[in-house]
Amino acid sequence: MIDIHSHVIYEIDDGSRSYEESLSILKKMTAMGYKALVCTPHYITGSKYVANNTNKFNKMQLLRDFVEKENLNLHLYLGNEIYIDSEIESLIQKGEIYSINHSRYLLIEFPVSRLMNDLMNLLFLLRNKGYVPIIAHPERYLYFQENHELLDKFIEMGCLFQGNFSCIIGKYGEHTKKLFLYMLKNNYYHFLATDVHHETDILFLKFNKIKKMIIKEIDEKRFQQLTYTNPLKVIRNESLESLNN
Ligand SMILES: [Fe+2]
Repeated sequence: MIDIHSHVIYEIDDGSRSYEESLSILKKMTAMGYKALVCTPHYITGSKYVANNTNKFNKMQLLRDFVEKENLNLHLYLGNEIYIDSEIESLIQKGEIYSINHSRYLLIEFPVSRLMNDLMNLLFLLRNKGYVPIIAHPERYLYFQENHELLDKFIEMGCLFQGNFSCIIGKYGEHTKKLFLYMLKNNYYHFLATDVHHETDILFLKFNKIKKMIIKEIDEKRFQQLTYTNPLKVIRNESLESLNN
């Protein structure tokens, strides 16, 4: 598998709290069957989660050194989980924030409870510039939970959806689980990812159960597409096949 959403770089956002915790996460992910992961620290304008790229690069290099020393056969790529913002394009141009492995794909999160007025417009501008927004954990947003048809508007615009594995066991509550199942059954997702923050995340304890529950709803082939084939295309900056293929 390839993970496109993780907070494994330590002491940079609300993810891993130490070098040791990051190592533990990397070992656990390798044991789960991951061959590559994209490190996607939060970027939220005006918050404490801003670019601190020298720090980020140095820490990522230390993690890569560890992976090599331990022969983990795990590739680490760089990205950001970008809170939607009107400055995204200029921040990328300035090297403040990153698309996934320098591709056309951007991992983007939205406010949880309110649908931003100019959201569609911001996404439209990014699409026009050639970027492909991947919407992180749409199942967690209240306005999607309340209005499933809204999802289609984002799909029509060329956005992609990334679901969080642990939703299926109720980590984020019943409403999120319900929308996750709806999106899974109706083929809305292009990716499933860990959004791992800590070595103690429930995902590590329950991954076998989670995988079984997901495969019951879709099938092995589609699971492979959401966890490997599509993420691989993103890392390689290749086009994705259209939904439902
Ligand atoms: Fe995240």
